[in-house]
Amino acid sequence: MKRKKLKIISAPDLKMAGRRNFKENSPTRHAQLKYTTELKEWAKNKTYCLMTYGCQANVRDSEILSAYLRKLGLKKIDDMFEADLVLFNTCAIRENAENKIYGELGRLKASCENNPDKIVGICGCMAQEETPVTYVKNHFPYVNLIFGTHNIDSIYSLLDSCVTEKYRLIDVISNQDDIVEDLPSIRFDQYKAFVNIMYGCDNFCTYCIVPYTRGKQRSRSIEDVVKEVNCLIEKGYKEVTLLGQNVNAYGYDLPEGNSFDELLRQVALTKIKRIRIMTSHPAYFKEEVFKVMAEYDNIMPALHLPLQSGSDEVLKRMNRKYDSARYLELVDMLRKYIPDVYLSTDIIVGFPNETADEFQKTLDIVEKIKFDGAYTFIYSPRAGTPAARIKDMVSKEEKMERFNQLLSLVNKAATESANKQVGTVVEVLFDGVSKRDNSMISGYSRHNRLVHVKGDESLIGQIRRVKIIASHTFSLIGELDD
Ligand code: SAH
Ligand code: SF4
Ligand code: F3S
Repeated sequence: MKRKKLKIISAPDLKMAGRRNFKENSPTRHAQLKYTTELKEWAKNKTYCLMTYGCQANVRDSEILSAYLRKLGLKKIDDMFEADLVLFNTCAIRENAENKIYGELGRLKASCENNPDKIVGICGCMAQEETPVTYVKNHFPYVNLIFGTHNIDSIYSLLDSCVTEKYRLIDVISNQDDIVEDLPSIRFDQYKAFVNIMYGCDNFCTYCIVPYTRGKQRSRSIEDVVKEVNCLIEKGYKEVTLLGQNVNAYGYDLPEGNSFDELLRQVALTKIKRIRIMTSHPAYFKEEVFKVMAEYDNIMPALHLPLQSGSDEVLKRMNRKYDSARYLELVDMLRKYIPDVYLSTDIIVGFPNETADEFQKTLDIVEKIKFDGAYTFIYSPRAGTPAARIKDMVSKEEKMERFNQLLSLVNKAATESANKQVGTVVEVLFDGVSKRDNSMISGYSRHNRLVHVKGDESLIGQIRRVKIIASHTFSLIGELDD
């Protein structure tokens, strides 16, 4: 293999990534868009394959990366063995997310040996962590580009070093605090779009790696968000999801202070047909937000409100900054303002030294609230986070048993909730042919439930009334009602 020179411009540093300077306002700058003629020449007749893991923040980053690569002239293909450039936009939230990447990298070995000029890159959250980067560097010599979540708009100069200077390059920034505007992007969906309203997270839940991989909370201005939504409307988009790790803390890093309710109102006033929000945090919720949600018909009656645990002790050890009583109070308030709301949540089982009694508290609150949907996870220690340093006395088997117990409880509530939809009429934004049955067209209801109807592709992009005739818990079957 010709490529040998390792060049480390900067290596990940989780400690530095965990530092915060709250006094500084995040400066906004324009995206870098320039490439060299040599790079453009290299890209001629070349292909790329971009694989995206993790959450919506990564999907949005991949849309931006795609635009950079396509502007250079690279052609997108889905075959990573064939592609001249393979990029893994990775997730670090749990150990299995990282193991998946090592598996994929292993499979690439032969194709890299056959094509020594092939560029294999790792970006995203895993690239922000020391241990995986060292592991990749040592075990996968054909990985020749590692960059993080903060320097996506440097992709041209990074590629340039890889292509023209044949470097194995590591450039990961750990203390970014600016906001990049005017990023190019090719959106993956034609009618639904993700819109970042903020980057990073300052919460430091003790189990979570995100504040380190995504850095300090930086809120975009209301004007920039509204401008993006207006552009999307002009292009025919019907739905936006406002993205942030903790949307309820939106703005506290801006001079005007916490103003998520105001941002939501301004986005609602653009008259985009549908608005969703992702993700809320119970500790920062202001009643005003419920009021705005109830006031505007284009804000969807759905809320994802991660609970994590029903035990006040565990919540404290998680540094979640609310207790179960506050969570219940929010749920009551929410259901008062929006009686038909679809409420979903995230729950972690087996946080270090969670007792049987503490776990029971989670079961109790889940039983009481009856979530319409819930994502359940077994706690996964993340190096660099405070919880990972706790000696955990609970066995894997015990955790698995608790997990299964919780799963059957949340599934029961989800099934009951879905069954109640049968016989109702819902509005669905159709966005594609069903993956299972190509005579069906699929879309999402206002509650964000997946709905399939018999129909043809002309439905795609339309919002139509649908009568629900059957329920399969995670999807509904309906027929057009208009
Ligand atoms: N910012 C979002 C969540 C992002 S991560 C929020 O605060 O709600 C999505 C979910 O992954 C979290 O809600 C949590 O339930 C889960 N999660 C995060 N870190 C985890 C870990 N170390 N082990 C297991 N689950 C984890
Ligand atoms: Fe992680 Fe907590 Fe921030 Fe969510 S709010 S990203 S769980 S630290
Ligand atoms: Fe994963 Fe990073 Fe999102 S860790 S969940 S891709 S913010």
